Amino acid sequence: MAITKENGHLYIAGMDAKKIAQTYGTPVYVYDRQIIEETMQEFADSFVSKKFQGKPAYASKAFSCKAMLQLAKQFGLGADVVSLGELETAKRAGMDMGEVVFHGNNKSACELQKALEYQTGLIVIDSLQEAMLLDALAQAAQRKQDVLVRINPGIDAHTHKYIQTANLDSKFGISIADETSLQELAKILKNSGALNFKGFHAHIGSQIFEPESFVKETGVVCEFAKAFEDTYQMPVTVLDLGGGFGVRYTDADKPAKVKDVCTLLVKALEEQIDQLDLHLEKVIIEPGRAIAAPAGLTLYTVGFSKMAGEKQYVFVDGGMSDNIRPALYQAAYDADIATNMDAPKSEEVCIAGKCCESGDVLIEKTMLQPSHLGDILAVYTTGAYGYSMASNYNKLAFPGALFVKDGKASWAIRPQSLEQLLEREEDLDADTL
Ligand code: LLP
Repeated sequence: MAITKENGHLYIAGMDAKKIAQTYGTPVYVYDRQIIEETMQEFADSFVSKKFQGKPAYASKAFSCKAMLQLAKQFGLGADVVSLGELETAKRAGMDMGEVVFHGNNKSACELQKALEYQTGLIVIDSLQEAMLLDALAQAAQRKQDVLVRINPGIDAHTHKYIQTANLDSKFGISIADETSLQELAKILKNSGALNFKGFHAHIGSQIFEPESFVKETGVVCEFAKAFEDTYQMPVTVLDLGGGFGVRYTDADKPAKVKDVCTLLVKALEEQIDQLDLHLEKVIIEPGRAIAAPAGLTLYTVGFSKMAGEKQYVFVDGGMSDNIRPALYQAAYDADIATNMDAPKSEEVCIAGKCCESGDVLIEKTMLQPSHLGDILAVYTTGAYGYSMASNYNKLAFPGALFVKDGKASWAIRPQSLEQLLEREEDLDADTL
């Protein structure tokens, strides 16, 4: 996030945070468009190899909206989608649907049909049942569909257990140790006239700091791919290694650079290709957080403050409804009073939201500049899984998301109005009123 300080105010990509708050209201997500663009470019530039086509696909669950996918397209990235809503967003953003990968452990027939209709590049099969359903649907639609199979490589990534995905009892994919299911799956795919098996997908978790975990994943997936190819005589030409690249939220986080992780991954893949004599044509990676998180922050207006026991509370006009991550994962964030940047951070406070729930805390304990009613608070690095996990809890409306570049702002997502918040509700039937 290109943030600067001027006259005691925080500036985001050349715009005064106070002015943004006054013009667009709070809470509001603010994205520095240039940071998104630079990160996308960095992935596109560094995940390259002479031995295979490297394709980063933006994991849109991190922050799915048309503007993000239009940027992904502009920078040559594909997209990862996991629902009808995300698929439709990619379609309406004008994405090349051939570069879209459709994931999910429980896709509905309706979702699969839409994906077939949109000629989605790859559908990732997560289970035997899905393979059978997709086969039938593709046949009915008279479509040849390229598919990957999600495998669980059983790699333990050091991250919060809710965002680990490749433990043996994970709900995702088929374990590489489950020979019975793999054999069954190979049979379905081989006999299918409609499904075109391309290879495997694995995703070991999110917010991973040790690049070695990705190298380990690469090794396991490649060895497995080779063994599968040999056993079933089914060539593997595409691998999708998922996302998970860690970002810095606070000083405690020390992520490796995007470029370095990509370089390491490419090297590991090239070694495996040589050693195992693999015939990979394309390898996909799916960064979500690494693209969206560092580019976004949330602006809130400071409301009341309260001393409760030993705790000094600062309340803001949003909270767990726009960012559930602290409540759900004990996620940590840094913050500043964007209207008092020159003051020292002299107060130890708990920043809490306005929801009726004690767990509605954005930052449990942090040093902050002194603040007053009406000041603007900036919580940094909220660009991924903040907006996308927002809710209308307590009937708080969804905030908007702004893209800012060169001192100019425009909505990527307009804030939800009170009317929109209530428009789907019906009165009781008149005769029962
Ligand atoms: N590919 C697959 C198949 C995934 O399941 C995920 C994330 C990604 C890619 C993107 O991972 P990333 O690069 O963003 O780490 N809500 C949680 C994160 C859940 C991630 C789920 N899958 C959070 O707020 O930390």
